[in-house]
Amino acid sequence: MPTELQPRAPSTPQIARANDGISLSDVSRAYRDQRGASVQALASVSLHADHGELLAVVGPSGCGKTTLLELICGLQSPDRGVLQCSPAALMPQRDLLLPWLSALDNAALALRIAGLPRAEARARAAELFAELGLEGFEAAHPHELSGGMRQRVAFLRTLLSGKPVLCLDEPFGALDAITRAEMQAWLGRALEREPRTVVLVTHDVEEAIVLADRVAVLSPRPGRLRAEIEVDLPRPRSRTDAAVIALRERALSALGLGAAAGQEMGMRTGMDSGTAAGMGSAP
Ligand SMILES: Nc1ncnc2c1ncn2[C@@H]1O[C@H](COP(=O)(O)OP(=O)(O)OP(=O)(O)O)[C@@H](O)[C@H]1O
Ligand SMILES: [Mg+2]
Repeated sequence: MPTELQPRAPSTPQIARANDGISLSDVSRAYRDQRGASVQALASVSLHADHGELLAVVGPSGCGKTTLLELICGLQSPDRGVLQCSPAALMPQRDLLLPWLSALDNAALALRIAGLPRAEARARAAELFAELGLEGFEAAHPHELSGGMRQRVAFLRTLLSGKPVLCLDEPFGALDAITRAEMQAWLGRALEREPRTVVLVTHDVEEAIVLADRVAVLSPRPGRLRAEIEVDLPRPRSRTDAAVIALRERALSALGLGAAAGQEMGMRTGMDSGTAAGMGSAP
């Protein structure tokens, strides 16, 4: 379902590209802290993802990853540079479910906002509940769900928005290792069935390599593009494949990290304990 690109930039008029992807050219964004000092979050970032591509973004905490997603979703504007993007849905880093709605109504929220009658919206969301291991919890409210379950409901809500671009901010961050691996596999299958352009922010370098077509590695704040790693490997990918391991090493070295240093800085390297059985990184 092709949609028109919506160019966004503070000052410069832009020309839209004809696809359902995203394109950032020389994009910078600074904030003011409480004392009025400038905090440069992103500096001159150029990135693109074509329709149906999954772009993973990795980088240390505070390097501007959430800022990048909010720019792509139009929640903020760049200070400099050019950003072009089709309509994008954000799965925020914190799940932000509405506490007064059931899990099913939370998942169906974007469909309701898009104008679907309640029964139809709930039916479409319900179809995916079982696949995400949420069956039986349709009527539960967010406070009755585990952190991982809340994250899955939020993920479902983003997917069901029907937007051509999905921005996922650490979507599997709160999940245990087994559920995390299951959700990664599920995401891969869902995108095969229904291709979207996805920007996936993750601390898990191995997750990035297993899922992405390309991995953008950002520097510490201000986030600059340090490397873009093409992942031209057949799917489904196994985290124990030699080619996956080799690319993971490349990403880690672009981050300036050995595996041990990565763990110290809170980056998941895929070399943590618990990965030997291919269950994914330890939480
Ligand atoms: N609304 C804001 N006002 C002021 N500073 C902000 C604001 N939002 C983010 N920042 C600052 O911008 C920088 C980048 O923040 P951002 O949330 O984009 O990082 P991140 O890479 O997503 O970090 P994490 O991995 O911890 O989620 C940080 O230094 C942060 O303190
Ligand atoms: Mg963040």
